[in-house]
Amino acid sequence: MKQKINDHLNDIQDFRTDSSEQIEAFRIKYLGSKGILKQLFEAFKEVEPSLKKEIGQSLNHLRNSATDKINELKGSLEQKQSDKKVYGDLSRPGESVQLGARHPISIVKNQIIEVFSRIGFNVSEGPEIEDDWHNFTALNLPEYHPARDMQDTFFIEKDPDILLRTHTSSVQVRYMENHKPPIRTISPGRVFRNEDISARAHCIFHQVEGLYIDTDVSFADLKQTLLYFTKEMFGKSKIRLRPSYFPFTEPSAEVDIYWGLETEIDYKITKGTGWLEIMGCGMVDPNVLKNANIDPEIYTGYAFGMGIERIAMLLYQIPDIRMFYENDVRFLEQFKSVV
Ligand code: DAH
Repeated sequence: MKQKINDHLNDIQDFRTDSSEQIEAFRIKYLGSKGILKQLFEAFKEVEPSLKKEIGQSLNHLRNSATDKINELKGSLEQKQSDKKVYGDLSRPGESVQLGARHPISIVKNQIIEVFSRIGFNVSEGPEIEDDWHNFTALNLPEYHPARDMQDTFFIEKDPDILLRTHTSSVQVRYMENHKPPIRTISPGRVFRNEDISARAHCIFHQVEGLYIDTDVSFADLKQTLLYFTKEMFGKSKIRLRPSYFPFTEPSAEVDIYWGLETEIDYKITKGTGWLEIMGCGMVDPNVLKNANIDPEIYTGYAFGMGIERIAMLLYQIPDIRMFYENDVRFLEQFKSVV
């Protein structure tokens, strides 16, 4: 009998399973109404009185071991099931995380911010819904000024005129109204023009405005800054300043960079000249300073403005401006590797 009890003890110790059916079968085998323990306790009645104490203790030990084993197996099974509920199948291969891509407009905007922040420019913003003063009048574009037609405007309200800003130059005015020189700020943002949508133009696009106001700021400072920018942004250090006209700057210029004529695409985008226009700029008109309560006798400054889409199209050779706004993942996914 002792031998039997020991064999059963070993059997109980070695038993492993994570199936509830097998645990139940095990319970019935040992503790069921016709189970091993029942039979052993039956046989115990016949045991010699001198052995009763020892064998009785062994039998109790066997019963406790069987009960403990069953409780232990049930406990770990429950734990596994509740883990499964929380985590699913822990042995399943991991799911790859779907990483998004930054939009090319954001990539280029951040690059421009980064390049200018290295030379002390901060970032400022203004409202997309503007009044006439900040978008036009303060920028030396009084009512009926013909240059207002350069930018077809979406009006929201009449008298007083409320409109969607046509350029980020409006932020210049707001910034000067609220800050004293020296001023070094760039203002990225969305602008709106009532234009027909085509491969080259859209009614919503993005600009970055730059403004530098201090004592003794000269056109040479502007040129140096532009050279630095084009070098950092495009890796090109040949630029050309073409005389131009903007009401808010005097003198005004358009900035061309020498892109080169190495590939067929270079020929196409530069129309065979090698030169590409990338922005407008000039010395802030004294009237604009006055309108923003800055004394033009003490301070001078320069300003510039560029279209982000245009720069992104150049950098990534994007042939159609509409691609930026269509949210086609096949287009957007191509920018995954760019931070
Ligand atoms: N606001 C002009 C535009 O939208 C761009 C521009 C040109 C901004 C010259 C400037 C500047 O600050 O000096 O076409």
